[in-house]
Amino acid sequence: MLKCIGVSKEFGGLKALKKVDFTVNENEIAGLVGPNGSGKSTLLNVISGVYKPDSGKVLFMNEDISKLPPYLICSKGITKTSQSVQSFPDMTTLENVLAGVLFGRKEVKEHDPLRKAKELLEFVGLDQEKFNIPARNLNVVELRRVQLARALATAPKLLLLDEILTGLTPKESDEAIALVKLIRKQGVTILMVEHVMKVIMGLCDRVTVLHHGEKICEGTPEKVCTDENVVKVYLGKKFSFYED
Ligand SMILES: Nc1ncnc2c1ncn2[C@@H]1O[C@H](COP(=O)(O)OP(=O)(O)OP(=O)(O)O)[C@@H](O)[C@H]1O
Ligand SMILES: [Mg+2]
Repeated sequence: MLKCIGVSKEFGGLKALKKVDFTVNENEIAGLVGPNGSGKSTLLNVISGVYKPDSGKVLFMNEDISKLPPYLICSKGITKTSQSVQSFPDMTTLENVLAGVLFGRKEVKEHDPLRKAKELLEFVGLDQEKFNIPARNLNVVELRRVQLARALATAPKLLLLDEILTGLTPKESDEAIALVKLIRKQGVTILMVEHVMKVIMGLCDRVTVLHHGEKICEGTPEKVCTDENVVKVYLGKKFSFYED
């Protein structure tokens, strides 16, 4: 479904991505992990068009999307939630999601956009009393829910999730994991960045590891977890696949 070929990205001399080859298959939950600053968010930003790659290509369903702006990439079916939560602060919660319904994938037309937006907010578990208040009055956990609802509102084929569990309590985290499973069941392919290895290992069909902007390993969770280099640079000796 998605193919990154030799993708590189520099920020003023800092090589954030170095010739990364990376794929996501239709219908899978793919995981992207690695130490802080290893290039995970940059890769998601290149895929979603926030950054243009300096070299290399991003193909989505065999089409080169690497030079397209984010809104066109979104209209083709790729949507991202940001690590640092983003909203339209002066619009209501409902309007934030409505923006996704109205400006998402072109071929998906909703008869009742407002109802769709409400359904999605209910789906992500936001209290109804928050629907009509400005997004600036929501806390960060509520904003994460709104961000997810807005992303789903665009009817993505491929959903990119950048650390959606950050700041959640264990109970909220479990709810979010159940949501991710449900979203995949509805036919959406998912690429997620997450630091909580237990979550990645439990959810993902395939995992890719970045280190200093380079892909150092990819494969099943079991393979990645026991890879000597991954253990050395990222997981540390103590990590065990079966750890509680
Ligand atoms: N817009 C930017 N301008 C300058 N440098 C940037 C920019 N975005 C990312 N970087 C740098 O690129 C490198 C990779 O950053 P990135 O955010 O992709 O890492 P990450 O793997 O997502 O890290 P984290 O786990 O902390 O979220 C870092 O050194 C970061 O400081
Ligand atoms: Mg990041």
